[in-house]
Amino acid sequence: MATNLHKIQFVVNGVSRTVEVEASEMLSDVLRERLGLTGTKIGCNEAECGACTVVVNGKPILSCTYPAVRANGKNVLTIEGLARVQNGQLSLHPLQESFIKLGAVQCGFCIPGQIMTSYALLEENPDATSEEIRYALKDTLCRCGGYPTIERAIQAAAESMRTGQPVEIAEVVESSRALKFVGHTHIRPEALEKVTGQALYTDDLKFPDMLVGATKRSAVPHGIVKRIDVGKAKKVPGIVAVLTAVDIPGKINHGLVYDDWPTLVGVGQKVRYVGDAVALVAGESTASVQEALDLVEVDYEPLAIITDPVQANQPDAIFVHEKGNLLKHIKVRKGDIDKGFAEAEVILERTYHTPTTDHAFIEPECSIARVTDEGRIEVYVGSQIPYSDRSQVAAVMNMPEDRIRIKGMLIGGGFGGKEDIMGQIHAALLAWKTRRPVKILYDRHESLVVHPKRHATQIKVKIGAMRDGTIVAAQTELYGDTGAYASLGDKVMTRATTHSTGPYEIPHVKIDCYAMYTNNPPAGAFRGFGVYQSAFAVESAMDELAEVLELHPVEIRLKNALHVGSITNTGQLLRESVGLVESLEKTWKLVQQMGGSEPFIAREVPGKPHLKRAWGLAVGYKNTGLGGGAPDKAGAEVELFPDGIFEARTSSAELGQGLVTVLQLIAAEELGSKLENVRVYLSDTDKTPDGGPTTASRQTYVTGNAVKGAAKAMREAITSVLAEHFDVAPEHVKFIEGLAQVGEQTLTFGEVARLMQAEGKILTASFEYWAPKTLPLGEGGDMHFVFSYATQAAEVEVNTVTGEVDVLRIISANDVGTAVNPLGLQGQVEGGAVMGMGHALSEKFIVKDGYVVTDRLAKYRIPSIVQTPEITSIVVENPAADGPFGAKGVGEIVSIPTAPAITNAIYNATGVRLRSLPVDQEEIAKELHGFEAGG
Ligand code: FES
Repeated sequence: MATNLHKIQFVVNGVSRTVEVEASEMLSDVLRERLGLTGTKIGCNEAECGACTVVVNGKPILSCTYPAVRANGKNVLTIEGLARVQNGQLSLHPLQESFIKLGAVQCGFCIPGQIMTSYALLEENPDATSEEIRYALKDTLCRCGGYPTIERAIQAAAESMRTGQPVEIAEVVESSRALKFVGHTHIRPEALEKVTGQALYTDDLKFPDMLVGATKRSAVPHGIVKRIDVGKAKKVPGIVAVLTAVDIPGKINHGLVYDDWPTLVGVGQKVRYVGDAVALVAGESTASVQEALDLVEVDYEPLAIITDPVQANQPDAIFVHEKGNLLKHIKVRKGDIDKGFAEAEVILERTYHTPTTDHAFIEPECSIARVTDEGRIEVYVGSQIPYSDRSQVAAVMNMPEDRIRIKGMLIGGGFGGKEDIMGQIHAALLAWKTRRPVKILYDRHESLVVHPKRHATQIKVKIGAMRDGTIVAAQTELYGDTGAYASLGDKVMTRATTHSTGPYEIPHVKIDCYAMYTNNPPAGAFRGFGVYQSAFAVESAMDELAEVLELHPVEIRLKNALHVGSITNTGQLLRESVGLVESLEKTWKLVQQMGGSEPFIAREVPGKPHLKRAWGLAVGYKNTGLGGGAPDKAGAEVELFPDGIFEARTSSAELGQGLVTVLQLIAAEELGSKLENVRVYLSDTDKTPDGGPTTASRQTYVTGNAVKGAAKAMREAITSVLAEHFDVAPEHVKFIEGLAQVGEQTLTFGEVARLMQAEGKILTASFEYWAPKTLPLGEGGDMHFVFSYATQAAEVEVNTVTGEVDVLRIISANDVGTAVNPLGLQGQVEGGAVMGMGHALSEKFIVKDGYVVTDRLAKYRIPSIVQTPEITSIVVENPAADGPFGAKGVGEIVSIPTAPAITNAIYNATGVRLRSLPVDQEEIAKELHGFEAGG
């Protein structure tokens, strides 16, 4: 039989290899699938993200689009080949060392690509300038956004290569409240595996006999399924199973809050967006599965569609769900709004729009399910909420929850986009049916089409103020497009609602928000959780109001800013930890140092009169934790092993935000252990207590407190055992420098563990932390237990001919309570600002008539290193009484004020006020040219 196979010989990481490949196979396939070199990551399969970069004959190439046959006779270097083993010791390349020590590693998924691209650059140009580094890395995307640190890491590595000196650990702003470990700079425990290619994400796992699984999606955005015929699909050679809704053993629907999302849409049922699943296929190869998917025949009776949330609320709108299009009407009332506006000397009314945006995490969704010998189902997945996954999988499988295990894998970025079920249930169904492991890996197209987005919003703002700038009344009306299914839509839009009058104390407030179903892809959690949208509206309006009142933007914010003793618009008395004014004053001081005494006044770039520069500023706040009366708790346990290692366990997820480090620091601090003797194990429903969802900036506070409590319980257990064994009072048992001291005796923790074992004691301590009680919206009192506050200032340069905007510098001041993990905080600050800037300037997920236009990464422009501004972090620490060592949330607040800071700066530079995101260059140019034409 004729064969299309080509034999290639090449050298991979110094080892000669011979492989037979098909002409269509890419180098990344060969490296990952044949040679097991899974350090090379696949983010997009369209040569757009750079995660798959390897070095071929000294040049960086994108291995996902590089035909393997072209590697014949060449020398290939992957991330696994960069470190050397010398005298039995792993010797890292300076780039690997510097990425670890400077904190350039976050989720880690892009890191192999970043390092290999940098390696090729430094081999060719050891003295690369900042400009040359940025040019070389322009196509290697990092959605965690740590570009400034990545650049510093490359420079540090270059210096190390020149001098032969080791890379120094980063100097970052440490906590003013530093303890022994908390508040100091420490490198991530998991960074080593991320820079060497050893870190395992779900797609890197292999199981014997594993099948490829895939999903047939709806062909129409709204319609009734009239017929599904899988006959032809089943006959495709290599196909093992084809499933439809009739094959579901349990509940059809799933959902995080409301069970409104069908696992599979069956005959007679409605599809509500183009991501709806109608059939599942499992087979021996991707090619056979794709062929079968194409042969699944589905007939639809198309229905009219609704794609605009405002229209969806009209009386004659067609219904997306039987109950109607309104997911939730959310209201806030404070004082007497009519009285407030009657008192006001000035009233400003404006309308703002924000678009749908996508998380664009570099790691696409992947789920692997398998049935164990005991008849349980194990699902391997990078999930933000493993216990929710478990209950949703169990319900659809009609199995008790303890028959399901969710094993969380490393997550290559989440940002809220990995909270909903994606392939978990589908993989479980196929694995159960076939009794073989099944992997469902989304390509970038499927990821973009299917998973929930950030809500597009329309936000009307009406503010009444006195001439001195005192705000006396604020009324807002919000519409949020929650798409086809609820996901976390009502929670997100509730946050948008309650934060829509900004971090200001206002006596009279009225807010109405309508979270509306449409036939667009669902919208759900996304970093900022609705507050990003409302901050853009209210912070733009504040600058507009300041101009009307002829007041300084800083002055009007200071006059109305929330402070200790303020009552929020939901009736909450702020009793502590309100660092807004401090963040604002420190930012303003630094803006003046950088931009002169009038930084908000436009100035020309010398010799380039078409370029105008100015600074702009915005503030924000964001709750830590679930709030609104939701029970907010986390469980954790700490175990002491006979080798003296403590292990802290909880199901919360590490998304790149640095949770492992935070929990390690907290546990070590509480235990008096050496840092290296504490390890952290996360995200496994069989082995870790429920830490709750990794969302709402709650991990440091809520899960941190759970680990702190478990560590304290462990310490007390040890104290009790030692006190009894040595017959001393408990206060004579001390924990110093990683040792237990009992009077004159000193024991290692290994000796302690063995002593406890010998005495039949349990070496594990558990703790369930309940965050302070909150109340539902509308009941007044504490809707949230604490808030984080921030100010950001941005300097922009606008090309007044083309309308092009460059963000030159960002100052980001964040009140985080206590900076537990300063290096992680730096990554969050940089990443938040870069993501916020991307949303401001370029990101827009386009859906036309229910069909997704933005179906490739190339069509969705996230920032690259080239656009990255200089970012200065100011750490503000107003400790929260109940936070672990005073800490509160940071993951979201860092991105919230960015967009209005930028658009306010654009206005200051040009006089063009932009009330829609992302910034439209053409609109700027048109408005400016219009002014010129009109004189
Ligand atoms: Fe770059 Fe997460 S560290 S994408």
